[in-house]
Amino acid sequence: MQRKILVTSALPYANGSIHLGHMVEYIQTDIWVRFQRMRGHECHYVCADDAHGTPIMLRAQKEGITPEQLISDVSTEHQADFAEFAISFDNYHSTHSDENRALASQIYLANRDAGHIETRTISQAYDPEKEMFLPDRFIRGECPKCGAADQYGDNCEACGATYDPTELKNPVSAVSGATPITKESEHYFFKLGDFEKTLQEWTHSDHLQPEVTRKLSEWFESGLQDWDISRDAPYFGFQIPDTDNKFFYVWMDAPIGYLASFKNYCDRSGIDFDSFMKPGSDTEMVHFIGKDIIYFHALFWPAMLEGAGFRQPDNVYAHGFLTVDGKKMSKSRGTFIKARTYLDHLNPEYLRYYFAAKLGSGIDDIDLSLEDFQTRINSDLVGKVVNIASRCAGFLTKRFDGKLGSELSEPSLFNDFIKQAENIAKRYEDREFGQAMREIMALADRANQYIDEMKPWVLAKEDGKEAEVQAICTMGINLFRVLIAYLKPVLPKTAEQAEAFLNIEALQWENIEAPLLDHNINKFKPLMTRVEQDKIDAIIEGSKQSMEAEKQLTKNLDKKSEKTDIEPIADEIQFDDFAKVDLRIAKIVNAEHVEGADKLLKLTLDIGIGEKQVFAGIKSAYSPEDLIGKLTVMVANLAPRKMRFGLSEGMVLAAGPGGKDLFVLNPDDGAQPGMRVK
Ligand code: MSP
Ligand code: ZN
Repeated sequence: MQRKILVTSALPYANGSIHLGHMVEYIQTDIWVRFQRMRGHECHYVCADDAHGTPIMLRAQKEGITPEQLISDVSTEHQADFAEFAISFDNYHSTHSDENRALASQIYLANRDAGHIETRTISQAYDPEKEMFLPDRFIRGECPKCGAADQYGDNCEACGATYDPTELKNPVSAVSGATPITKESEHYFFKLGDFEKTLQEWTHSDHLQPEVTRKLSEWFESGLQDWDISRDAPYFGFQIPDTDNKFFYVWMDAPIGYLASFKNYCDRSGIDFDSFMKPGSDTEMVHFIGKDIIYFHALFWPAMLEGAGFRQPDNVYAHGFLTVDGKKMSKSRGTFIKARTYLDHLNPEYLRYYFAAKLGSGIDDIDLSLEDFQTRINSDLVGKVVNIASRCAGFLTKRFDGKLGSELSEPSLFNDFIKQAENIAKRYEDREFGQAMREIMALADRANQYIDEMKPWVLAKEDGKEAEVQAICTMGINLFRVLIAYLKPVLPKTAEQAEAFLNIEALQWENIEAPLLDHNINKFKPLMTRVEQDKIDAIIEGSKQSMEAEKQLTKNLDKKSEKTDIEPIADEIQFDDFAKVDLRIAKIVNAEHVEGADKLLKLTLDIGIGEKQVFAGIKSAYSPEDLIGKLTVMVANLAPRKMRFGLSEGMVLAAGPGGKDLFVLNPDDGAQPGMRVK
């Protein structure tokens, strides 16, 4: 029976690049999707960028562009990365889309009207300067447990403690540097507890992996908390219907983005969206996610769908996290590898194969060991699989015009190969890709063994052994074809090239068992080359450089925003404090460069009752001739300061952050040297 399956991967945030950790998920999902399609099922794979939230809003501000511009640039980058890794999305959309706005409202309003939304006033950290509420990760301060400086609002990277942002010592806003205050505001809550009964049932009915169900039991025990789904302006997101200035929290409309992307695809391709979404639908909905976002997908999501009268997901499959050489990906070690950096140096199919070989159905972390990666690609893909074809193809093209023989000389060996089809299919279906790869490689070993034993290269030199050579190579090519079919969900590009070489239609699961006989193949071109150490080194080096470049960029953006930002007003003073400062109109009667000083100009100022000499740090913005003859304002009673170049007897007033941006003050026409400014 043909299944109709809607498959999703989690929606990557639109404020950063895709890295190899992400790729675990998209590759895992894509292998499963390609497998389903090869089995003849109708399988729709959709994704989108997760475009809302505070980090995206702030990053756009920092870059001086609109959030819409930012998310559009990032989407282009993400899609290019995914395409090169052969991720076969049917649609790649955005959560900042009309479809998502409509569906988010619909789902929210249905839940609200059914009584599942409540409002409450809560108090939260607020940045009084930037005038915005601060998410935990935008508050920094000293850890309340160990005192480490510059820690996040909710957890300490030094000692691992977790705490409430209000416990942080000397907190500052990471956005403006201001000290956060506490401020009240009304929030909208989704009453997850209303769904406790159906969620209990749903999480125990084979929709989830057993270890995920166990994890959820702990959450059930500690009670299902109401979920805060609103955020105050300024926020980049959708305004909540019937509110003035409240926005949906990014995680509220993110999973709805799955449906929005699918809806957008349906509208273009004639698929019936509603038949997929109604309860009791004969279609399937399957989500692949990382283990960090289980709570959202296994509790909130099914509950929200239920509250809105939609169908529930059939499966939520979580996977573990990627480590590199046994450790968390690290920017300084160069193991925080972006998809793009990898693509600059290596064939994407290698990583697809390596991840497949490491993936199982559980949620254990998976490790990319760079040495093991190299060995495995070279020995499995290049040494075993591709080798079979390259050992046989040459003889066939050179001596038989590329023609395969008319029968299989070892039907039992071929049968052993095709007998594995259902077993391997089950491995794919169950997401036991590692197991599948091991079984496929065991077959590849047998194929190579067969060729080793038959030694076509020896027979080829003997007279009268022509038919035998053709038969052996025909066998070899047929075994190769079955292996490629089995590997096709993992190695789609290689399979495509192999299909061209074999001169056959696209391989499907159902046509695996028919042998290829009396058939002409094309000239063999090497399908893959070995992974050399210098490529791995280049990836590590490239990753370090890309992180360095990113750091520099952030620094420059920070500097830029510092410059454009208005400095906060200083502490309050009394009139007497001000009156102590004796400001006078001064005429610049002379200005000159100071030998050995690259920032200073030496000014001679006439203040009516005499002349004063001042060294002013304005050389970056003025040359002496710009200044001579002008009136300005000076602090006349500043204690003289002995400098390396002479005595400085006051200060002239100028505004601006520095560099070219310095502006010496001028009084209005009529002011005379010596007049007091007050
Ligand atoms: N935007 C949310 C998902 C919303 S889904 C409605 C998000 N984005 S993410 O960019 O942080 O992550 C996208 C997916 O990649 C998640 O499933 C996440 O678990 C996965 N991974 C991110 N880093 C990963 C590793 N280092 N290793 C494996 N998977 C990782 O979460
Ligand atoms: Zn600490």
